Amino acid sequence: PSETSPVPRSKLFDFHGVQMVNAFTNNWENIQNFKARPDDILIATYPKAGTTWVAYILDLLYFGQTEQERQSTIPIYRRVPFIDKAVTSLNEELNYNGVDLANNLPTSPRLIKTHYPVQFVPKSFFEQNCKIVYVARNVKDTMVSYYHFERMTQVQPEPGDWKDYFQRFLDGKVTWGSWYDHVNGWWQRKKTYSNIHYMFFEDLSENTDREITKLCKFLGLSVTPELKRQVTGQVQFDAMKNNKMTNYSTLNSKEMMDFNVCPFMRKGKVGDWKTHFTVAQNEKFDKDYEQKMKDPTLQFRTLI
Ligand code: A3P
Repeated sequence: PSETSPVPRSKLFDFHGVQMVNAFTNNWENIQNFKARPDDILIATYPKAGTTWVAYILDLLYFGQTEQERQSTIPIYRRVPFIDKAVTSLNEELNYNGVDLANNLPTSPRLIKTHYPVQFVPKSFFEQNCKIVYVARNVKDTMVSYYHFERMTQVQPEPGDWKDYFQRFLDGKVTWGSWYDHVNGWWQRKKTYSNIHYMFFEDLSENTDREITKLCKFLGLSVTPELKRQVTGQVQFDAMKNNKMTNYSTLNSKEMMDFNVCPFMRKGKVGDWKTHFTVAQNEKFDKDYEQKMKDPTLQFRTLI
């Protein structure tokens, strides 16, 4: 263990062709056998794409008016269970089993989070024709955000220095595997499974109100302009960063997320990659990107 990590960091291993760590494969059978309900809503993302942002938007749209107490007492990661995750800890706050949490949710619809590539998602979500919201973020900012997250989160491997991490990320040697495979896999699935709303971090950042309107249309929700205004305000970066129930500070510990290294709500910007990528890295990156991203219908913006 290093100075900042009192527990040994997990190791990556190949799991059905995808790099994973124990915390997200431990409960594999129960996850695969998970029984979705037709009104479940799955929020699917590659890590750092804005999962928490969209989870909170959905939570407020569905329960912001009716479940006031939940807003101030239950952290977002317990309101929106992360189905992939199962870890045990002597610290009660850190104990987590996404499947159990989902099965014990007292409210419906259930909002459920996953980072799995599409082929890992329990079949039941598709069989039940559940609505799925997929959030994607341009890969350069995703990589930077993931790098800082891995510095502070203890259940994933140490990222090492930026130069090494950069190459590892391009090679897909990070937890949940290749970003390229993830965003493409979900994009292709959307062609045959129509109940997916594929949205982008950059759009949300550019115009939150417009994106919430699109989300509501997809979900079949009619909300008043007043509620929409309220939600838009509550999900601004600073509001979420200062909200204990959405900023993950309840997991701040040397065993889980070390906020002395970096906060979860870090910068929330589009284009922060510019402060990290060297010119040489950027050139190398762009060449590699062209090779990997062959579908011209899937386009990202790295600046807005
Ligand atoms: P940065 O590290 O670039 O700041 P996820 O929830 O998928 O792990 O994504 C986390 C990233 O989304 C972090 O990016 C975080 O700051 C950003 N984020 C979360 N809520 C946000 C918000 N309301 N506005 C802008 N960015 C937000």
